[in-house]
Amino acid sequence: MLRVAVLVSGGGTNLQAIIDALEAGRITNAEIIAVISNNEGAKALTRANNHHIPGMVMSPKNFKDREAFNEAFTAKMEELAPDLIVLAGFLVKIPEQMVKKFSGRIINIHPSLIPSFCGVGFYGLKVHEEALKRGVKVTGATVHFVNEGMDEGPIIAQKPVFTEKGDTPEILQRRVMEQAEWILLPQAIDDIANDRLILEDGHVYKKQEELS
Ligand code: GAR
Repeated sequence: MLRVAVLVSGGGTNLQAIIDALEAGRITNAEIIAVISNNEGAKALTRANNHHIPGMVMSPKNFKDREAFNEAFTAKMEELAPDLIVLAGFLVKIPEQMVKKFSGRIINIHPSLIPSFCGVGFYGLKVHEEALKRGVKVTGATVHFVNEGMDEGPIIAQKPVFTEKGDTPEILQRRVMEQAEWILLPQAIDDIANDRLILEDGHVYKKQEELS
């Protein structure tokens, strides 16, 4: 059973998609052991609570400096010892020591087709604002492994979503969530839990289904 910790900052709709997929059997061989938020008012914590999942707050605001936070945060994750850490709209940079300790075991969902509209400063609604400003016809979402860079780790899965005339960042954000994020992230967790991914030469591939 894959023990999953989900890290969140806000609404938690991706967390909800994971919970729903677990309850519906679309993710198997996995369980959420904890939901950690940097924001104590996050609706995601209420969602966790509604499903009897332990929730906790780890915020840089509660520490004297970033280094102290990074140390405490990494220690907390080591204590929880999850098999997989899922960044589901988590807007705090993962400390380098945590990336090293959990190498290959942290995944992130990003609301664009990486390498477009990603990296420092591209998060949440901002990503969709920039995509609309550029006038792209296709955007989407990406699930990737987390490395020391910002949105730079090996890509696990991507799904395109069309923009439409009259889109606002909010409308586009919702469409990308519905048509891509809430599907991709649970699928990636299910693939990891059921050992369907291969990492070769720094790239991720899905094992071919065996024909019976
Ligand atoms: C999601 O769109 C997620 O892709 C994005 O934040 C939103 C969180 O929504 N993450 C990033 O921008 C990370 N760079 P949620 O709290 O409702 O899941």
